[in-house]
Amino acid sequence: MSIRRFRLGASRFGAPLAAALALCAFALPALGAPAPDSLQAAVQAGAHAFANDSFGGHSTCIACHSNGGFGPGKTPSGMALPSLQGAAARFPQWRGGKLVTLQMQVTRCIRGAFGGTPPAPDSARMAELLTYLTALSRGVPMGQQLPELKAPASH
Ligand code: HEC
Repeated sequence: MSIRRFRLGASRFGAPLAAALALCAFALPALGAPAPDSLQAAVQAGAHAFANDSFGGHSTCIACHSNGGFGPGKTPSGMALPSLQGAAARFPQWRGGKLVTLQMQVTRCIRGAFGGTPPAPDSARMAELLTYLTALSRGVPMGQQLPELKAPASH
């Protein structure tokens, strides 16, 4: 008798509970994208940030680097920008008497080009952006701007 009553109680609460759980499962991803669980997912997260994230500023990467960075770009003032395909392979650069890494360039674009707050250097978001930019350079010979190194003589 008591077991039956318990079962009855469970089924009475079962439907609302299932509905609440389903709502949670539906609502959770909306609170923030789930952490990427593979390299491919990290590239996609970077592509998503590239296209959609304003980093608290007034623009997004694709406003200047069109077509997800594939296409040639253009600043609002009309300055032509090269495609970002292969760009990651051309960093670091020596520019204006300073060493500029790919990450410094991303920070420069977010802060300088659209007044946003760059993600912390060791944050997941920065890593995803750099991963996406590196994927845009897949297969491109890397570091051709750098001097050729010779292995030190071994003893
Ligand atoms: C308002 C325009 C603008 C926006 C928005 C912008 N950039 Fe840039 N980007 C530039 C300009 C201008 C350059 C040329 C170098 C410089 O002046 O820093 C550049 C250069 C770059 C380069 C180097 C290209 C090369 O071949 O040397 C990378 C990589 C880059 N941007 C990534 C990004 C990323 C990632 C975002 C979004 C987080 C972004 N940019 C948003 C204007 C912009």
